[in-house]
Amino acid sequence: MPEQPLDMARQITLLQPARLEIGAAAAARLGTWASPYRRVFVVAMPPTQGYVARLGLTGAVESFVDLPPEPDLPAVDAVLAAARAFRPDLVVGLGGGSVMDVAKLVAVLWDSEQAVRDVVGVDKVGGRRTALAQVPTTSGTGSEAGIRSLVTDPQSLAKMAVESPHMLADIAVLDPELTYSVPAAVTAATGIDALAHCVEAFTNRRAHPLIDGYAGLGIALVGRYLARAVADGGDTEARAGMMLASYYGGLCLGPVNTAGGHALAYPLGTRLKLPHGLANAIIFPHMLAFNAAVRAEKTAAVANALGLSGGADGEALLSGTMDFCRGLGLEMRLERHGAREQDLPGWAEDAFAIKRLLDNNPRPLGVDDILAIYRSAF
Ligand SMILES: [Fe+2]
Repeated sequence: MPEQPLDMARQITLLQPARLEIGAAAAARLGTWASPYRRVFVVAMPPTQGYVARLGLTGAVESFVDLPPEPDLPAVDAVLAAARAFRPDLVVGLGGGSVMDVAKLVAVLWDSEQAVRDVVGVDKVGGRRTALAQVPTTSGTGSEAGIRSLVTDPQSLAKMAVESPHMLADIAVLDPELTYSVPAAVTAATGIDALAHCVEAFTNRRAHPLIDGYAGLGIALVGRYLARAVADGGDTEARAGMMLASYYGGLCLGPVNTAGGHALAYPLGTRLKLPHGLANAIIFPHMLAFNAAVRAEKTAAVANALGLSGGADGEALLSGTMDFCRGLGLEMRLERHGAREQDLPGWAEDAFAIKRLLDNNPRPLGVDDILAIYRSAF
């Protein structure tokens, strides 16, 4: 299969938050921007609740912190009920991807006739009258950059995607100091998730030169800073580099999105209950190697940016990428995370059903290919 030609003339739409505040102690600058708002509703989690004081917010502030790790519909409805009681003019997401995804939904739905199920899909959201700020406290999801929110269906456990330009933040604040306390294992896994966003967009069937630029910047930052951020959580430069990598990954998600890697990672989240970052880290080396033959130049660029010892070919690429991940302390074997061999065919069927992502993959993925990758990762 030939290398993908540059599709310079193809139309895409790139949206970004109107304002970005970046740098050490940038959190306090949210308060300066937010001073006109009188009723601020902060969506957070117990570990991030303590950061509310750093945001410099004035006026009435209410924090909602009872969010479960993978929020489902009833969990989102509970936050919406609290927001309706409070009547905010500004919603702040202060946390990881789930928190920011919920903040998006709260900002557009708390004063709306629409329920979450009414807005699942693309461009179903009627509008937004409440300001929205996003303050990530992990580096991985890039949710602060984007217009998409994922909510778990409590029956099927599938992720429902809501996508709307109304969910774009008015301001995103990238303060590396808010990520100092993220444990090394979480830093490693979420960092590979950010890398996967960039790489899956970069090698995507729908890749675009504009997004390739951001993806390349993100990949280079991960190669330069992820190991440092894992080794020393208080390394401000490395933490700032990973926050930016995560943001660039988020920009990749809107116009191009992920591909096979994320499709194969989702069943590991829904069935095996692995955190999103870890699920993607486990799949990442296998998918990079699977796609290498049809994206040789781009794969070589990734291998070079990550400093992989074996280069970009075949088995050496797989083992070099596995070494890169293991070097961050990640346990890469599914069996060690509680998977059983008899689970794998069902997960392969689950992943094969995620057409919206598989269709983006540069090399076609049949259910047998998916099963072979799970077995290789077992
Ligand atoms: Fe991801």
